[in-house]
Amino acid sequence: MDIVVITGSAGLVGTEAVRMFAPRFDLVVGLDNGMRRTLFGPDGDVSGNASEMSVIPNYRHHTVDIRDAAAVDSVLRLYGSDVKLIVHTAGQPSHDWATERTLDDFAINAVGTMNMLEAARRHCFDATFVYTSTNKVYGDIPNSLPLVELDTRWDFHPDHPYRRHGIDESMPLDVTNRTFFGVSKLSADLAAQEYGRHLGMKVGVFRCSCITGARHAGVELHGFLSHLVRRAVAGGEYKIFGHGGKQVRDNIDARDLVEMFWQFHLDPRPGAVYHAGGGQERSCSVLEAVAKCEQLVGRPIPVRYLPEARFADVKCWITDTRRFRQDYPGWQPRFGLDDMLESMHAHWSSVDALREEKVLTHG
Ligand SMILES: NC(=O)c1ccc[n+]([C@@H]2O[C@H](COP(=O)([O-])OP(=O)(O)OC[C@H]3O[C@@H](n4cnc5c(N)ncnc54)[C@H](O)[C@@H]3O)[C@@H](O)[C@H]2O)c1
Repeated sequence: MDIVVITGSAGLVGTEAVRMFAPRFDLVVGLDNGMRRTLFGPDGDVSGNASEMSVIPNYRHHTVDIRDAAAVDSVLRLYGSDVKLIVHTAGQPSHDWATERTLDDFAINAVGTMNMLEAARRHCFDATFVYTSTNKVYGDIPNSLPLVELDTRWDFHPDHPYRRHGIDESMPLDVTNRTFFGVSKLSADLAAQEYGRHLGMKVGVFRCSCITGARHAGVELHGFLSHLVRRAVAGGEYKIFGHGGKQVRDNIDARDLVEMFWQFHLDPRPGAVYHAGGGQERSCSVLEAVAKCEQLVGRPIPVRYLPEARFADVKCWITDTRRFRQDYPGWQPRFGLDDMLESMHAHWSSVDALREEKVLTHG
């Protein structure tokens, strides 16, 4: 039997992984304890995603906290060497939350990942293991790159190679402002590499920029595009933190990211580290994203500018995915920025979601 194990299976990436892998495996095993609601309150609730997963015939859910080493171990022991692929997405994704709850953040992101890696080592050593890391491991080092300020965005200097290709994996990692979230994710990222490089497990580390999609329960503390579309649909105010709203991110649809994982699984390279993102074509500044959303909803979005940028906030990140594309030439992103915005708009405009949002926004 071929089994895929997906942690964080009710979250954005996890849900898309479940849906895309259900036809490709005999059994899809999901681990999620609904922690996103605990982290972010009702706006972060992912129980709707969890209900969607529960009707997939070959999906089996385990309500497990990845901090619980014994519970994680018993799940992987149960399925053993039938597990061919593990996609580890469960995590605490917010910088601000991590600052307030450093120990909990480290326990979820760093120790939780070690629990998964160690259980995999013991019970399904030959499985491919995908770790969803983040470009935040580099902290604010990208702010020292030569940048230019344009009308609506920061960008790399036209003479710098990053302007054309984005940032590659040679970016240094040390001596930076990183946030506690960046620290816990980097710890897990390095540990995952070690299980690949040192022990020979088929571990791949994907350092992602902004991942998005209709199933993202975006909140102020995490998931800026999803949160922005949500606010736009509900008619609520949107807050911009610093940099004049010109900070730039590239965005990747969760489905395109999951397809990267699949390509890696077909031909894994132990300990490989890849940047994953949408690249220049799918980049936008916050100001540009607001303008696009105003077009989608057909009205202005009330915006509040807060002068202070978030700690270690990067002015411009655009991902270079050439290393991955060179190793896996079969992969190309399918969804453009407008596709992502339209799918989120359709989701949040649906009657149920809107009703729920109005209750949350207006009490
Ligand atoms: N979304 C992004 O923009 C982005 C960017 C870079 C990296 N990442 C990383 O990718 C991964 C997936 O991101 P996402 O956007 O799908 O996140 P998400 O918050 O939508 O999903 C994470 C899921 O993990 C679950 N979870 C959290 N703590 C848990 C615990 N202790 N035990 C079991 N389940 C737990 C949550 O309930 C949630 O359903 C995360 O590790 C995140 O750090 C995300």
